[in-house]
Amino acid sequence: RLRGVVALDGPSGTGKSTVSKKLAAALGATYLDTGAMYRAVTLAVLRAGVDPADTAEVVRVARAAELSMGTDPLAPTVLLEGAEVEAEIRGPEVTSAVSAVSAVPEVRELLVALQRELIAQARTDPGGMVVEGRDIGTVVVPDAGLKVYLTASADARAARRTAQDVSDGRVSDLRSTHADVQRRDALDSGRTVAPLRQADDAVELDSTELDIAGVLEQLTKLVESRG
Ligand code: C5P
Repeated sequence: RLRGVVALDGPSGTGKSTVSKKLAAALGATYLDTGAMYRAVTLAVLRAGVDPADTAEVVRVARAAELSMGTDPLAPTVLLEGAEVEAEIRGPEVTSAVSAVSAVPEVRELLVALQRELIAQARTDPGGMVVEGRDIGTVVVPDAGLKVYLTASADARAARRTAQDVSDGRVSDLRSTHADVQRRDALDSGRTVAPLRQADDAVELDSTELDIAGVLEQLTKLVESRG
């Protein structure tokens, strides 16, 4: 078992990103947002004017893209071709195309290899690493010291996504966010390669009735007992 690596998986809108960063900061760990990597490749696809459904072209763009991830939980960065793209990868264009891009097996192969390199660097780091995504416990780091599968009801997740969008200054409404959350869940869970699912040895944590502090408290207890 890989002590020090915490794998946090689950669908969107569970508060996963917020709690992953806070947990990493509290543990003195580094942090890897794998969703940001799929989003950055999707941005590269859109910038190249490529149809996200055109698999061959998507693979070509993904292979050519220069992606670099900063792993400081207090200031995580995503660089595409050397430029910061954090705001752009959270926008609606990327959000609606990302599931199609992340379903392409060659894109996953490429990004999983990069993720494992970054995780390998963190193995020697005393603070460890918190890695968040959809397939971290099942595919990327099956020997993670602690695997958590974070869930919440679809209503709670749509409400949180909307609040997050509004606080980040994006136009958002609950109805379309609810539809988007359900659409992405279906695509992410239904794909053939590395579908979103709970690893057999993951602890399920339902955050529907918990606030961020409550989730963090549960996570900290889990790390103390088994991370
Ligand atoms: O976590 P976030 O919402 O930023 O992830 C965006 C998308 O990236 C997900 O909807 C999913 O399609 C994809 N993803 C993935 N595997 C991961 C992380 C994210 O397929 N490990």
